[in-house]
Amino acid sequence: MLLLASFLSSLALTWAAPTTQDPGYNCQPGQKCWPSLREWQQLNKTIDGHLFQTVPMGAPCYENSTSYNAATCDVVENNYNNSIPRVGYYGQTYWQNWEACGSTGCSLLSEDPSQKLYPTCSLGRLASYYVDVRNASHISGALKFAKEHNIRISIKNTGHDFFGRSSVPNSLAIWTHNLNTFDFFSNFTASNCPSANGKNVGEMGAGVVAGDSYRYFNTKGMDIAGGYEESVGIAGGFGQGGGLGDFTTTQGLMVDNAVEFEVVLASGEVKTINECNDPDLFWAMRGGGGGTFAVLTKYRIQLYPSVAIHTWNFKANFTGNQSQALHWVLEAHAENSLEWSKQLVTGSVDYYPGKVSFGLVLPSNDGSKLKAATAKFNHFISNRSDIAVVENSYISFANYTAFLALSSADTRATEPAGIFSLLASRLIPRDVFSTPSGIAALVDGVVHGIKTAAALLPLAATSVVLETPVSNDDSQHATSAHPAWRDAIWHVIHAGEWEERLSPAAQENATDGFLKMLDPLKALSPGGGAYMNEAHWGEPDWQATYWGANYEKLLEVKNCYDPTHIFDCFKCVGWRGESDPFYSCYEEW
Ligand SMILES: Cc1cc2nc3c(=O)[nH]c(=O)nc-3n(C[C@H](O)[C@H](O)[C@H](O)COP(=O)(O)OP(=O)(O)OC[C@H]3O[C@@H](n4cnc5c(N)ncnc54)[C@H](O)[C@@H]3O)c2cc1C
Ligand SMILES: *[C@@H]1O[C@H](CO)[C@@H](O)[C@H](O)[C@H]1NC(C)=O
Ligand SMILES: *[C@@H]1O[C@H](CO)[C@@H](O)[C@H](O)[C@H]1NC(C)=O
Ligand SMILES: *[C@@H]1O[C@H](CO)[C@@H](O)[C@H](O)[C@H]1NC(C)=O
Ligand SMILES: *[C@@H]1O[C@H](CO)[C@@H](O)[C@H](O)[C@H]1NC(C)=O
Ligand SMILES: *[C@@H]1O[C@H](CO)[C@@H](O)[C@H](O)[C@H]1NC(C)=O
Ligand SMILES: *[C@@H]1O[C@H](CO)[C@@H](O)[C@H](O)[C@H]1NC(C)=O
Ligand SMILES: *[C@@H]1O[C@H](CO)[C@@H](O)[C@H](O)[C@H]1NC(C)=O
Ligand SMILES: *[C@@H]1O[C@H](CO)[C@@H](O)[C@H](O)[C@H]1NC(C)=O
Ligand SMILES: *[C@@H]1O[C@H](CO)[C@@H](O)[C@H](O)[C@H]1NC(C)=O
Ligand SMILES: *[C@@H]1O[C@H](CO)[C@@H](O)[C@H](O)[C@H]1NC(C)=O
Repeated sequence: MLLLASFLSSLALTWAAPTTQDPGYNCQPGQKCWPSLREWQQLNKTIDGHLFQTVPMGAPCYENSTSYNAATCDVVENNYNNSIPRVGYYGQTYWQNWEACGSTGCSLLSEDPSQKLYPTCSLGRLASYYVDVRNASHISGALKFAKEHNIRISIKNTGHDFFGRSSVPNSLAIWTHNLNTFDFFSNFTASNCPSANGKNVGEMGAGVVAGDSYRYFNTKGMDIAGGYEESVGIAGGFGQGGGLGDFTTTQGLMVDNAVEFEVVLASGEVKTINECNDPDLFWAMRGGGGGTFAVLTKYRIQLYPSVAIHTWNFKANFTGNQSQALHWVLEAHAENSLEWSKQLVTGSVDYYPGKVSFGLVLPSNDGSKLKAATAKFNHFISNRSDIAVVENSYISFANYTAFLALSSADTRATEPAGIFSLLASRLIPRDVFSTPSGIAALVDGVVHGIKTAAALLPLAATSVVLETPVSNDDSQHATSAHPAWRDAIWHVIHAGEWEERLSPAAQENATDGFLKMLDPLKALSPGGGAYMNEAHWGEPDWQATYWGANYEKLLEVKNCYDPTHIFDCFKCVGWRGESDPFYSCYEEW
């Protein structure tokens, strides 16, 4: 019986082979197979004139570039480190690492865009051509062309990805930024799926940026489970890989709240998927990551009536023995974390070798809760001789839109667009916080990371993010996000940033060092993982680290919906692997 079954299935594979084989999609410019100018122009016609040759954002400022133009360069310089206008350019990524390839690129210096980072302008990692998508048919057109010519596809929204997954050199990019429509349904009727009907469902085009969504839905009296930084594409990689922000403790991850997607399948077919229709694909796109299963064009999501936002901002310098202060602040923070998570307190705490900055948040219409939850800790921390308090304030906002004005100004200062960045992160499970020895090991592990990061890169900080889905255990396994989320109390992110190009040796050293410094946190969380959107891109055991036990089923869904692997991205489910020549930039420094 077994033998027969396996014989039949191998037979089926053989018969199916001609249509399901991966043709490689590996045609490159300069090769005979690369489309002629005429063929590109024909594609342009079929997609209503929305095909463009890539011009790097910095190109107008490079004198030797054919795109050099002093007036355009002025505009570029003004927009360069401002994330909102910046994402309006195809030819950029948020982090310079991912628009460059080895020693080639076309970036400007973020803090002073009149300075250029490379002697000449090159495409680096950016695609050769891109389709500025305005409707689903443009995506189908691009996919059809890629299949006909065996060329590589990439999908880009804002370019915020921390692994460079939205930029693939020598590819045809599908750029979703201008799919920016909104809708709101107080009574929502799902497509052929009565169980998914409901109240207060929001709809966003794939290119919508976070800030616009908070403001739009607030005018409808609603909050959405997004993040905090304004320019992230929440219906793109964010909302397909997890999506966390200040509503995560109360509402869950963004993927937890997904109701329905409109997608373009690998076949080019436009489909509406939900828990009844293509439920496996819907599950996979709720946590499995962007760029992998289909191109999302519309995201429909459960919203919640707006509440007030309360914050506690505490900043202090370490004035005595800094190492000791770092230690006791982290320890006191860890000791309070189970209680704070019970109260749904969220936000994050930024640690540096010589200072700390708490930005705790509680979305609630009860204005006394956050103060009550933090009073004892506040008293303890603000009355010690070895720290100098810089700020200690409780501020409340009538709604999320009002809070956003403040939080996004903070992000502009701490994470300016157009710099280089490297992350290393780990989700820390609940059990670590329940014993003194667990807390002691956690504090040692985090302090080790803070110190190592500071020794490796000029701008380093560690964020202890409290935005974990503590009120949603996903017991129905409705999402494919790493199961470690359901047990996580802290999401620890070590971040390193730099403004100017590092030597290849220093960059390689920092990349290796950031990965190694996670070892103590990994030892504390065996079988655990890291957030696939905010992690170290070099994780060796990446399948288990980003998706845990969900990986196997995700791979099945991938192979079913994208049998020829027309969608592929770095360390995404079913990825071709680093020997694929399109990922050679990851090997160059
Ligand atoms: C400044 C900053 C702040 C951040 N803050 C948060 C935060 O608060 N919470 C959080 O959870 N994360 C946060 N992130 C991380 C964020 O989730 C990731 O960077 C994510 O990849 C962004 O998605 P994007 O679509 O904007 O980016 P892109 O880089 O354009 O895309 C990311 C991935 O998704 C794919 N993709 C994009 N659009 C589509 C689509 N329509 N269909 C299919 N695939 C698609 C791309 O191919 C790529 O693989 C932040 C990042 C930055 C840079
Ligand atoms: C595609 O057509 C549009 C509109 O005619 C034009 O602006 C654009 O340059 C064309 N793209 C290419 C690659 O030729
Ligand atoms: C760029 O052009 C200038 C003249 O405009 C020339 O002097 C310079 O050598 C060129 N640089 C490179 C790297 O080609
Ligand atoms: C951004 O660029 C402007 C010049 O356009 C500069 O004055 C400013 O300091 C830069 N901001 C940051 C945070 O680097
Ligand atoms: C797509 O958008 C173009 C305009 O950019 C329009 O002409 C075309 O009719 C649209 N196609 C569909 C199928 O909506
Ligand atoms: C939504 O449905 C309710 C009944 O469930 C009805 O009373 C209400 O009028 C509907 N609202 C809209 C905008 O259709
Ligand atoms: C949000 O709060 C601000 C400040 O109180 C107020 O001016 C604004 O109208 C509110 N916005 C919405 C959409 O309710
Ligand atoms: C600071 O405290 C640490 C840990 O308690 C100790 O090892 C170190 O010697 C102290 N440093 C100084 C300068 O006193
Ligand atoms: C600090 O502690 C001292 C002595 O324990 C106490 O008198 C004082 O009120 C405390 N100050 C604050 C701000 O809590
Ligand atoms: C904290 O440190 C910053 C930077 O070193 C300094 O400007 C500030 O005055 C310090 N504040 C206090 C209260 O010590
Ligand atoms: C490599 O990192 C170590 C710290 O881990 C540092 O001491 C060393 O100087 C670095 N080397 C380079 C080339 O940056």
